[in-house]
Amino acid sequence: MNHFTSFEDVEHPQKLIRQVIELKNNPLFSERGKQKTVGLIFFNPSLRTRLSTQKAALNLGMDVIVLNINKDSWKVEFEDGTVMNGDTQEHIKDTVKVISSYCDILGVRSFATLKDRREDYEERVLNNFLTYSSVPVISLESATLHPLQSLTDMATIAASGITRPKVVLSWAPHPKALPQAVANSFLQWTPAIDADVVLAHPEGYELSDTFAGNISVTHNQEEAFAGADFIYAKNWSSYTSYGETPAVDGDWTITAGKMELTNRAQFMHCLPIRRNVVASDSVIDRSLVYRQAKNREFAAQAVLHNLMETL
Ligand code: CP
Repeated sequence: MNHFTSFEDVEHPQKLIRQVIELKNNPLFSERGKQKTVGLIFFNPSLRTRLSTQKAALNLGMDVIVLNINKDSWKVEFEDGTVMNGDTQEHIKDTVKVISSYCDILGVRSFATLKDRREDYEERVLNNFLTYSSVPVISLESATLHPLQSLTDMATIAASGITRPKVVLSWAPHPKALPQAVANSFLQWTPAIDADVVLAHPEGYELSDTFAGNISVTHNQEEAFAGADFIYAKNWSSYTSYGETPAVDGDWTITAGKMELTNRAQFMHCLPIRRNVVASDSVIDRSLVYRQAKNREFAAQAVLHNLMETL
């Protein structure tokens, strides 16, 4: 593994998932990362990704640099050949070359803008990091994918030990338009576990065929919940009418009543979650969400450990 930005970067995903579960069962604190530095660059806010990756790096003896770019640093220009006499102060090429010279591994978070589908799905920011970084790059959530979250989620499901579980990825309401990254990434990683995967969403919220093309899809949430072992809730905005939030028939909030339709399913969400909008308090309070959040540390640690093998 030279970078960790997508499921496609991982040669042996099942092995990586096993490593996450092993770390969860036997946390490893080592000096493997001594005198190594990981840089974590954020174009967008974060709680779990920032802290769990910092903690993972500390578990390995690494030093950590964190930068909130555009806020604590210079405003970045992305267009090549621009006459930079406007608002932007530093070109991404210069930013990444300089930051990577201080680091052994570089993480970056850059969300979709939801303004231009082509631009978001080309992963302009992430690809600039991959092009100009002199060290391995970790996605801390990009415009279209969130691989650290998905690795965590697959490990959390696999650790349950349920044989071929029914896993439902269900769209849920949210007051704002959100990217498709978590849902895309979740579906991209499901081939790494032996599961019966169902995608439930209202009409108008179809995901890209790249991620959902081989997945069973229904617009009937209650039908999807029947016999489910895991309900993974997430909101996303429209991919087809890009970034829009078409009107939805019925109430897609996950409630205790809907969970009763399942096979005593465990509720999952990547957090942060809007309580009593995405899911009701009682569903969240009996869920796996805190276990998922803790497992982020072990996923990040496994990824850092593997990337250090390439240094
Ligand atoms: N799940 C997740 O990525 O959380 P943060 O946005 O807080 O990092």
